[in-house]
Amino acid sequence: MAPDNPLPFSSEFKTAEEYVDSLLDFATTSTLFQTLCGGVHILDFFTREPGLYESVIPEEWHSWLSNCSSMELLDVLIRDDLDTVSGPSPSLIEYIKDIRRHSLQRQYAPRKLKLSKLPRNVAVGMVPKKIHEVTNFADYVDRLSEDVAIQTNKNITHYVDFGSGQNYLGRALANPPYNKHIIAVEGREININGAKNMDIFTSLAEREVVMRNKKIYRQKMDDDISQNTQKEKEERIAAMSQTTPTENVADFRPYRDLATIYTTGEGQGSIQYVEQRLNDGDLSEVIPQIDQVEVESNLAASVAAIGLEDGSNHQKPCCHGNSSSIQACGGDNAKKSLMTISIHSCGNLSHHGIRSLLLNPSVNAVAIVGCCYNLLTERLGPPTYKNPILRPNLQPVNARTARESAAYDPHGYPMSERVGTHNGDGIRLNITARMMAVQAPQNWTEKESDAFFTRHYYRALLQKVFLDTGVVSAAPSPHDNGDAGSESPKNDRTDPVIIGSLRKGCYVSFVDYVKGAVEKITRDPVRGKEIAEKMGSLTDEDIAAYANKYGPRKKELSIMWSLMAFSAGVVESLIVTDRWLFLKEHPQLVKDCWVEAVFDYKQSPRNLVVDPTIPTRQSNAAGAEALRPALGDLPSGIEEPRRAARPHIPDPDPVRPFPPIPLRGAPAPATPGSLLTPRSPVATQKLTPADSYKILVEQRRLRPVSPHLTIYRPQITWYASMFNRITGVVLSGSFYVFGLGYLAAPLLGLNLGSASLAAGFAAWPIAAKIATKMFFAVPFTFHAFNGVRHLVWDTGRQFTNKAVIRTGWTVVGLSAASSLYLSIFV
Ligand SMILES: C[S@@+](CC[C@H](N)C(=O)[O-])C[C@H]1O[C@@H](n2cnc3c(N)ncnc32)[C@H](O)[C@@H]1O
Repeated sequence: MAPDNPLPFSSEFKTAEEYVDSLLDFATTSTLFQTLCGGVHILDFFTREPGLYESVIPEEWHSWLSNCSSMELLDVLIRDDLDTVSGPSPSLIEYIKDIRRHSLQRQYAPRKLKLSKLPRNVAVGMVPKKIHEVTNFADYVDRLSEDVAIQTNKNITHYVDFGSGQNYLGRALANPPYNKHIIAVEGREININGAKNMDIFTSLAEREVVMRNKKIYRQKMDDDISQNTQKEKEERIAAMSQTTPTENVADFRPYRDLATIYTTGEGQGSIQYVEQRLNDGDLSEVIPQIDQVEVESNLAASVAAIGLEDGSNHQKPCCHGNSSSIQACGGDNAKKSLMTISIHSCGNLSHHGIRSLLLNPSVNAVAIVGCCYNLLTERLGPPTYKNPILRPNLQPVNARTARESAAYDPHGYPMSERVGTHNGDGIRLNITARMMAVQAPQNWTEKESDAFFTRHYYRALLQKVFLDTGVVSAAPSPHDNGDAGSESPKNDRTDPVIIGSLRKGCYVSFVDYVKGAVEKITRDPVRGKEIAEKMGSLTDEDIAAYANKYGPRKKELSIMWSLMAFSAGVVESLIVTDRWLFLKEHPQLVKDCWVEAVFDYKQSPRNLVVDPTIPTRQSNAAGAEALRPALGDLPSGIEEPRRAARPHIPDPDPVRPFPPIPLRGAPAPATPGSLLTPRSPVATQKLTPADSYKILVEQRRLRPVSPHLTIYRPQITWYASMFNRITGVVLSGSFYVFGLGYLAAPLLGLNLGSASLAAGFAAWPIAAKIATKMFFAVPFTFHAFNGVRHLVWDTGRQFTNKAVIRTGWTVVGLSAASSLYLSIFV
């Protein structure tokens, strides 16, 4: 099954070794690549002089770039035959060729699948992208397991899905025609619960059946609603381990707590969930659970309740679906042979999956498709999680964080010695580079590109406004201790201010954007007031003047962003190649490993699977065990010797991923790398508990008041509900006003009798008559029809999402037609 080449490298290279050498060399020597991948940030686009575009993009590229459309540029970067392209300067062509040649190939050759279309009950909940991934990957895993079986003379018995989420993949593999035994390891309980609900649609699982009095049950549920969530959770867990109530005891467990009963027969697959956050690839806590044979009494009773004979027919209860109560699905340890699988394996989870092969003797193959490289941590420097609270770690430009060599994360990137020690210092990727690596420029359409270029342009320009108004300042020397950052041109950097996403209307014009953004950030209890003061004096004209001045340069930003995303293909290749190199570095355990595309990039751009199989170990499991201590005894089992192996690495800049980049037009740096120098460190302030509580209270005061009409998208559901109340008030209010008026009329000398009112009304002009009738007809008809809608709901009908929308519009239509009729013809 392994492809001819272990990596899908360009045909310009003869061997994987040649490709890897060239890739590492390019990544550490191309200053332009380094700048575009992690060295620039859009926030700095308009805040420095000369502008970022002018500073970074070679001058000879400018005229051609400025004359081609965004789609033409993408074609030249990605698709066109460069030998036939005329126009771009030779150095640009050379750069494009370099990026293309060092980016792993993503072509996917569709194969004949065992199951070309997932059955509806298995595909439940999946979007088309997921269906594509699951259909292809289930088949891929199946074929890989056949290969492993041939090579090792032993069948894979269980498939451990790392981060199974809603278990789409596992469900497909457990069902026919694959019938695999799945161990779905997932860190979030809510995902496991969702997955179990979907398992019910297949023949593998059934919901526990409980007979109960609905009225008493509802009452009990209402009483329980006020319990706090933690308590509820504890009770639910406790309830699961209790015996199923006998006939004499009322069973009040909510629907969600009823057991999902998994059954399996001869030749059938099975699913077993393990709720666990994996912190490395060590499955020693998970594997024993696969063998747990004890069936809890409530499960046995439940099985009996739905009419299955426990253990006496083909259908045997397999797993409760709770890690603490699992029925054996696959024989004893000696017979167990596992394959670790994972799609959309985010951040370090891919690393854990790959390491599981080395750390667990029973794992004999791995097939991992990674994603979300922005969530990777950094082994060669302090971790840089994308965490809004830790925003300073997300600094624009390749900022260094603290000099905490001890804080490097052994589970982070890079995994391999080869990348980790390349040129002595290793190759680092900062978060900006890793975030760009999850882009998919090949799939960008004109409309989408325009939309996100506009968003980025507005954000970059707002940063310039912030700088000019003093909301942010050109950062001073980034490190108190005055290390390399201090040589940076002062206006290279500006403080980050988080805007986040704004509602759609804010992207209509720059004025709208600034207003939306300012409205949002001025709610910030810490800086809000100060920002409001500084931005308050700006008029719409002032803001529009920025758009007029910088509008012509929007294109520069879209060019830069396209070049960044295109170049980041090499960043992704570095990450994937590093994983492959890591496996290659353990020849005693890994016989075969390769990378190949398993999805159509158009459908799922993170489509490279890392696949090793290790038959060598199969013949000698004891030998494999003996190797484990040699791998170290950290949880990862691997990193300690590495740390020891690199004490001599000179570390002039622990986070900077790449060597320095001289910038044209910028003042010459006194030491290399001025563009890559960090922003100012975070300004922190000590607060007493009372002060921080005060801030919290202020923050809470600024929260929108329920029912949040200003933040919800207008929808017929809540509009109709609101209108129902208003019309009710209008109708009943009018009734009371008229009733009271009628009572008081004799005292006031008025005649409100029907005949007199009718005579008076008849004398009105026609328009006034219609308007008055309309005023009463609209609330009357709407309230009447919507009242019927409510009555239908009370019977439990027409209460789905679709139905409430449909009936809502029906009520609107009926009310409009009947009130027009009443006003004009009656
Ligand atoms: C991007 S989702 C993919 C889910 C699933 N593989 C799929 O493709 O549908 C990643 C899942 O991994 C889980 N996850 C992430 N890190 C994990 C960890 N360290 N241990 C266990 N689960 C983890 C998350 O909760 C999430 O459900």
